[in-house]
Amino acid sequence: MPIRAIWNDKFSREGYLYGKRPNAFLAPRIDALPAGARLLLLGEGEGRNACYAAARGIDVTALDASDVGLAKAEALAREAGVTITTLHQDLAIWNATPRYDAVMASFLHLKEPLRTQAFREALKALKPSGVFVAEFFSTKQLPLSSGGPKDVDLLYTVDSLREIFALPGFEILRLEEAVDHLDEGHGHRGEAELIRVEVRKL
Ligand SMILES: C[S@@+](CC[C@H](N)C(=O)[O-])C[C@H]1O[C@@H](n2cnc3c(N)ncnc32)[C@H](O)[C@@H]1O
Repeated sequence: MPIRAIWNDKFSREGYLYGKRPNAFLAPRIDALPAGARLLLLGEGEGRNACYAAARGIDVTALDASDVGLAKAEALAREAGVTITTLHQDLAIWNATPRYDAVMASFLHLKEPLRTQAFREALKALKPSGVFVAEFFSTKQLPLSSGGPKDVDLLYTVDSLREIFALPGFEILRLEEAVDHLDEGHGHRGEAELIRVEVRKL
């Protein structure tokens, strides 16, 4: 099934699968951006991080392959009285332009080789001093029922991410495993095995 159809189906159900509040790892990193900063959220789904950022004066674009998810993101923005830009785009055919102060993602499940291609493209989207920030499920999440895909190829390891991000011209500020309690709608709930990454363009 194409990625658009998979996620359109999930997001067609009533309510917000991961809730309306932002991801707890991304939220303080969004808070650290100055008002007017340009933020691109990859695989942003139903828009919980985008609306949080827009309410803080960030110029935010929410990219996703699911038009149903993005329509719900726009509805959430209207409900919150904020403005977001949505970009209906499959990362498999995405060409970035270097215009963002930050690119962020929460729980964007990509397989190789698309994973390397999309995250290297995300680095190209950054302006100098721009940051890439993301939280993923680790491969250790596979047996747990707190959320995430049941396909190990869609889960992450520190080593595999280091291979993608250890590039000249970029500094890895954080790349670590974490165990944390998720409380994100019905989709992510309970103790989870996570990987967090922050990379800065020099
Ligand atoms: C687990 S959901 C997370 C949604 C959102 N980031 C959040 O945390 O609420 C994964 C999202 O990634 C998007 N996605 C997966 N593969 C994609 C691709 N190739 N191109 C664009 N979006 C993709 C899905 O459509 C879905 O919205």
